[in-house]
Amino acid sequence: MTTLDAHAVVPVPAEVHPEPGVSFQLRPDAAIRSDSASAGAYLAERLRPPTGYPLPLVDAPPAHGIELLRAGAGVHPEEYSLWVDAERVTIRSGTDAGLFYGVQTLLQLLPSTVEAGTVQAGPWTVPGGRIVDRPRYAYRGAMLDVSRHFFGVEVVRRFVDRLSRYKINVLHLHLSDDQGWRLAVDAWPRLATVGGASQVGGGGGGHYSREEYAGLVEYAAARHVTIVPEIDMPGHTNAALSAYPELNADGIAPPPYTGVDVGFSSLSVDKEVTYRFVREVIGEVAALTPGPYIHIGGDEAQSTTPEDYRTFMDRVQPLVTAAGKTVIGWHQIGPAAREPGRIAQYWGSSESPDDDLRAALAQGDRILLSPSNRVYLDMKYDAATPIGLDWAGHIDVRTAYDWDPAEILPAGADVAGVEAPLWTETVETPADIDRLTYPRLPAVAELAWSPQRSRYWPDFRARLAAHEPRWAHLGIEFHPEY
Ligand code: ACM
Repeated sequence: MTTLDAHAVVPVPAEVHPEPGVSFQLRPDAAIRSDSASAGAYLAERLRPPTGYPLPLVDAPPAHGIELLRAGAGVHPEEYSLWVDAERVTIRSGTDAGLFYGVQTLLQLLPSTVEAGTVQAGPWTVPGGRIVDRPRYAYRGAMLDVSRHFFGVEVVRRFVDRLSRYKINVLHLHLSDDQGWRLAVDAWPRLATVGGASQVGGGGGGHYSREEYAGLVEYAAARHVTIVPEIDMPGHTNAALSAYPELNADGIAPPPYTGVDVGFSSLSVDKEVTYRFVREVIGEVAALTPGPYIHIGGDEAQSTTPEDYRTFMDRVQPLVTAAGKTVIGWHQIGPAAREPGRIAQYWGSSESPDDDLRAALAQGDRILLSPSNRVYLDMKYDAATPIGLDWAGHIDVRTAYDWDPAEILPAGADVAGVEAPLWTETVETPADIDRLTYPRLPAVAELAWSPQRSRYWPDFRARLAAHEPRWAHLGIEFHPEY
């Protein structure tokens, strides 16, 4: 890269002002000064292995190096500026999150060998100039379904680490479904030990202990990623129903389910024990989750009548509020009475909003956009993709990228942001996760972060190609055709 406007930063920054003829070259005598201990330590940890430089964290402005300054609150709390001159790179933000995003941008301005785990040759040059950047949407998410196939904390941590490189700030964990319950709950221990011991296709499944989950939340927070836990209800509950007979309408526990059908299970809406169960589970999940949201699912409740569904949601949503959290539900919650601040997650088509979405909009819900024909990461790229589903269509990288979130909903709708879900019926290994996620997740990250006027497919495609060597260094098995 010779000048700053030739950058390949993803998501594309809001403003880029090159200063031709000026460049910064990181030398062995460089130091880092940071007003954010976490952002400074993160930057040093990312730069030391590939450069082999000591990069001490210092208290005074370094003669040569990188400064992260808590200064100049921007128009948006996550805004940052990045200034590159001959001796110094200076990142400023009013928040630690903004400094972290500035660090990600700086790392993407360095050669791709910065992603290597061993010492590389350099030179470590950054073209001179200035970037000013801020997100379009506050909620920029990915979802991982750990229920259909279970993935342990190491895999989820790596997923978080990689999403944070693209300024994604929410990881929604789909923690319960028919095939498995994945979080230990003290008051209902068989959820994990019985409900967690299965997955699609058989096999042992698994679950997170409370400590593992708390550790994951902490790891994500250090990367400015908020965990949104989902307990899907009243359908998608066979794992819970198989663990506790009393939650079933007929009092009989079904066997574990290892298939891929949907819509056959329901918590008993008429029994009081159901609401004690939900209150205690939500209470424990809320206590383990510092983030503001609890997702209560609510999709595909096809074995619950519409009346029962409303009765259930009218009782369950206030339990989330009482636990100090904001409700998120799949947009089928639209017709049910709304709790303050509720977010409805839209997973229909980008072309045809439905009655449940209209009901959510009429009630003033904020909408999280996950149109299944655009951002469902479990859809095949094309007919040749070996894993994945196709009920919402094939989603090549351009289809995932080339749409405007502002155009799906009527003017005035309150869009919280965009989230790309990865359902795992066909996803069994970390490499499977990678192949469906890259490069579509970076496409969604740019959609959620960058101004619409700065997004242009041919330009994005070229920047994406420049990330391939980065993914190779990270061991990401990406889908190569786009
Ligand atoms: C969904 O895909 N059932 C939300």
